[in-house]
Amino acid sequence: MNAPLIDPFARAITYLRVSVTDRCDFRCVYCMSENMTFLPKKELLTLEELDRLCSTFVGLGVQKLRITGGEPLVRRGIMTFFDNMKRHLDSGALKELTLTTNGSQLERFADDLYAAGVRRVNISLDTLDEAKFAEITRWGRLPQVLRGIDAAQRAGLRVKINAVALKGFNEEELPAITRWCAERDMDLTWIEVMPMGDLGNEDRLGQYWSLRDVRARYAEEYTVTDLAERSGGPARYVRLEETGQKIGFITPLSHNFCESCNRVRITCTGEIFMCLGQEDVADLRAPLRSHPDDDAPLEAAIRAAIDRKPKGHDFDYSRQRLDGQMPRHMSHTGG
Ligand code: 5AD
Ligand code: SF4
Repeated sequence: MNAPLIDPFARAITYLRVSVTDRCDFRCVYCMSENMTFLPKKELLTLEELDRLCSTFVGLGVQKLRITGGEPLVRRGIMTFFDNMKRHLDSGALKELTLTTNGSQLERFADDLYAAGVRRVNISLDTLDEAKFAEITRWGRLPQVLRGIDAAQRAGLRVKINAVALKGFNEEELPAITRWCAERDMDLTWIEVMPMGDLGNEDRLGQYWSLRDVRARYAEEYTVTDLAERSGGPARYVRLEETGQKIGFITPLSHNFCESCNRVRITCTGEIFMCLGQEDVADLRAPLRSHPDDDAPLEAAIRAAIDRKPKGHDFDYSRQRLDGQMPRHMSHTGG
C-alpha cells in the first residue's frame, strides 16, 4: 500500500465522510432554508468519480467510509455506488461502510444496503411527535421515517438515532425518546446544534441547548456515569445505570476532540474540507476530471490537502456574536 495519510499533527486520516448530494427531501430548519437552490448536475461528482475518489482514499489507508448528504438515498443510482464499495469491504481494506440518513427512503433501500455490506446506519430524528416532526423538517413525515427505521432493523442494520438538541423543542421529549430507543435497542446520540441553516430567524422552533444541560436533564431521572471511551470523533458517552443504555453527546462546538481528529470531509462537488469548522478547502474534482486514467495527480492533491489540515476549529457560542459561524449549510459539507 502507499504511504498512509498522516497530517502535520501526526493524526492518521482513517475516516472519510463523503457527501453524495446536496439535495434532500426534507428542509430541516437548522440545516436548510425553505427555498434552496441546488447545484446543477454537472457540478456533482458522478457515481464513477465518487467511486474513484473513495477507492483512492481507501488505498491511502481510509478504513471507515460514511456516506452523507443532503440525503444520500435521494441520489439517483446511489445503490450502485454502495454495491461497488462492497469490494473494499470484501478485500478487508475497508472496515466499515456506513451512512447518515433521514430515514425517508429506508423502507425501500434497507435490504439493499445490508446486501452491500452496510451494518450500521445513523438516522436523524429529533422528535417522536408528528406535528413537531413536520414543523422541524418542514417537508418530512414521521410515519414514513418510522417505517424506514422498522425496515432497517428488520434488515439487520444496527440503528443509531441522532437527535439535534433544541431547547424548548425536544427538551420535554428526552425521557420518551430515550425510552423508545431503549425499547428498540437503538443507540442514541444528542447533537449540539451548530450555527447553520435558518435557525437564527426561527428560534421559536428551538435554540441552542447545551449538552451539559442535556446531561443534567438525564441526571434528574437516572444515575449517569461518564464513560472514558471515545470514538476518535466528537462523541462522548455516558451510561444510564438504570437501563444500561449508552447515550452519546456530540458537541461540535467544543475543541475537545480536535486533537484526536481522524477524519476529513468531501462535498458532493469534490471539495475536501480538512476541518468542519474552518473554511480551508481544496478541490479534488479537477485532478479527478482532468486525469481520468491517472490517479497520481488526485493522490498528490489529497496529500497536499492533508498537509494543510488545521489543528482545530473556532466555533464559539460564548461570545456575543456567533464567532466561527460558517456561511455554508450542512447539506453542502455533509453532516
Ligand atoms: N447543527 C447540528 N446538526 C445538524 N445537522 C444538520 N444541520 C445541523 C446543525 N445546524 C445534522 C442533522 C443530521 C446530520 C445530517 O446533521 O440533524 O443528524
Ligand atoms: Fe435533510 Fe438532514 Fe438537512 Fe434535514 S438535516 S434537511 S434531513 S440533510
